Amino acid sequence: MPHGCYEDVRITGHLIDSGIMSRIMDDIVALDGGFETLSFEVGRTNEDASSALLRISGSDEEHLDHILAVIGQHGAEPVDASDARTVPAPSDGVLPKGFYATTNLETAVRIGGRWVPVAGPEMDLGVVIDDGAARTVSMADVRAGQEIVVGHLGLRVKPLERPRDKQEFEFMNSEVSSEKPKALVIRDVARMLEKIRERGRSIIFVVGPAVVHTGAAEHLARLVRAGYVSVLFGGNAVAVHDIESALYGTSLGVSMEAGMPTVGGHEHHLRAINTIRGCGGIAQAVEQGVLTHGLMHTLVTAGVPYVLAGSIRDDGPLPDVITDALQAQAAMRAHCQAAGACIMLSTMLHSIATGNMLPASVTTVCVDINPAVVTKLADRGSFQTIGIVTDVGLFLEMLADELERG
Ligand SMILES: NC(=O)c1ccc[n+]([C@@H]2O[C@H](COP(=O)([O-])OP(=O)(O)OC[C@H]3O[C@@H](n4cnc5c(N)ncnc54)[C@H](O)[C@@H]3O)[C@@H](O)[C@H]2O)c1
Repeated sequence: MPHGCYEDVRITGHLIDSGIMSRIMDDIVALDGGFETLSFEVGRTNEDASSALLRISGSDEEHLDHILAVIGQHGAEPVDASDARTVPAPSDGVLPKGFYATTNLETAVRIGGRWVPVAGPEMDLGVVIDDGAARTVSMADVRAGQEIVVGHLGLRVKPLERPRDKQEFEFMNSEVSSEKPKALVIRDVARMLEKIRERGRSIIFVVGPAVVHTGAAEHLARLVRAGYVSVLFGGNAVAVHDIESALYGTSLGVSMEAGMPTVGGHEHHLRAINTIRGCGGIAQAVEQGVLTHGLMHTLVTAGVPYVLAGSIRDDGPLPDVITDALQAQAAMRAHCQAAGACIMLSTMLHSIATGNMLPASVTTVCVDINPAVVTKLADRGSFQTIGIVTDVGLFLEMLADELERG
């Protein structure tokens, strides 16, 4: 043991076949820490869990704490059975120094000798203890004096393990590739959505304007009508261009029928925004008979909620767009915690924002024509996420057809 201070940690689970053990060792070495295997009991069959006891060492307390934080994400838990330590938040919007930063994995915290689940698993937040209960809290929401967990004692993170039996969603964990047979992948996505819906779980669709530009909004509307969309997340653009296409037959001035720019068409989206602002909002425009078809009309008439989050380059925006970023986060967060699946379609901004708010257990599919975007999202470190590099228009049409057939 080359280092000054140490902590013993236990890891239990399918350590070898899930690759957890090697990831822990790799991380310790990469962080310049040390480890000694004190015991390692390997499960005898495919079903049996393994258990390892490791002594982790670091150059000083801070170094050790950092290593423990990183390997804690793979389920390594200090053997010391003390309670989690808390420190009051020094002021509104400020977490105490050394606060425990959450992962998106299921987490428990030890309070009064009892393991209590942390409600609202989401990455990069703090944990507040209130009346014997624990929940995540964002930096912006923390209030002076709230008891916030610090350090890494009395915390337990449950890593995602590959299912022992045949994988539930077999296509998961497949490489991001534009060279896969799309029909097969889309068929699997359809079966997955059916299962999630059968279980009564909600499905989030995160949608960018390419869905409208490619003419696929009508296919997404089919999914809304069939009950596969529990909530839609997007920005100003997707709603604006959908409404532009309903009012003028163009998307960004390009005729949806002829595929050609129309004279004066570049102003259509501004006129569409102005019209909706005049009505007071999208739902009001539907009520007043101004907006009579399209994706946003379908959402309103089907009673499916949507969250439109603003961004710096928005025109207008539409009255429905939430321009305060923290309010938009809060509106999205509530839906993220309830989700069983999330389908992200051609928006880097809103897909990454949503990805960061989802618990790791949510089955996520990201579709984009740019492999870099898909890789970024698929790289959430779990087999729960799949990336599909393809045109979103073709994807949505095939998915809607497959779900109708299925
Ligand atoms: N007029 C406006 O107000 C206006 C216009 C555009 C964007 N915006 C806003 O700007 C923000 C970012 O916009 P965004 O989400 O469009 O941009 P983004 O750059 O975050 O994402 C666009 C993504 O779509 C992908 N894409 C493009 N065509 C595709 C296709 N055919 N198939 C699959 N993927 C495809 C791109 O690779 C890219 O990753 C949003 O909040 C949006 O509302 C506003």
